[in-house]
Amino acid sequence: MDKKLTINSIKKLKGTRPIVMLTAYDALFAKLFEGVDILLVGDSLNMSFAGKNDTLSATLKQMIYHTNAVAAGAKNTFIVCDMPFGTYTNKDEALKNAIKVYQNSPADAIKIEGGAEVAPTIEYLCKNGIAICGHIGLLPQAFRGEGGYKIKGKDETQKQKLIADAKAIEAAGAFCIVIEGVVAKVAKEVANSVDIPLIGIGSGVDVDGQVLVWSDMFGLNSGHKPKFVKEYLDGRAIFKDALKNYIDDVTNKKFPTQDETY
Ligand code: KIV
Repeated sequence: MDKKLTINSIKKLKGTRPIVMLTAYDALFAKLFEGVDILLVGDSLNMSFAGKNDTLSATLKQMIYHTNAVAAGAKNTFIVCDMPFGTYTNKDEALKNAIKVYQNSPADAIKIEGGAEVAPTIEYLCKNGIAICGHIGLLPQAFRGEGGYKIKGKDETQKQKLIADAKAIEAAGAFCIVIEGVVAKVAKEVANSVDIPLIGIGSGVDVDGQVLVWSDMFGLNSGHKPKFVKEYLDGRAIFKDALKNYIDDVTNKKFPTQDETY
């Protein structure tokens, strides 16, 4: 079994090989996902797991619960817990809540959305022993404030802001940054502007790694498929097929057979 990564070995991967990050929300699937570099207990669980329309109502209690479940399944994988909306609005609130995550789960790091404006908070957390993954570009927690999910890096001003954001977060002490929904050639420039890894989602191939939401990756979500998602499995069809077989077997008394009977 490969050695579990640390913030230092993750930083060293930049320029060596792309980093593989995947979301996970429970022990069953986290165990299957061992082998990826980083498991992200994303607040996207509020949508793909809890069925809500956005991430905003995810709670710290929920995130801690799911982080513990993921850690129970993937004992040898670096785990990042997403800080939910409203839990890091100022430095003291952020530290209080980050401590709650560290004391109540084995999370290796936490993730915070935002650019240069959250850098002072990141610096304060890092100085207090918390490992931070930043998150810039399209910020799902800001979608109401920004009037929708907005792709970033569309003009020079946005490009300069993204570079300034990444540099501020790096200077504050973060060990890596998720960059979401950014025009690919801009994401490449942002990645080249810092020494810590930039892990992309919907930001092209020229960054330092990729992250996807696991249920998107396994083709389990119905409805709109964002352009950046690649489905590696037709999960819906496979599950529906198995379910149909089970329903047929039970209805026709073909299950259980002697093999499944005491
Ligand atoms: O919550 C999440 O799953 C995320 C990823 C989209 C990066 O933040």
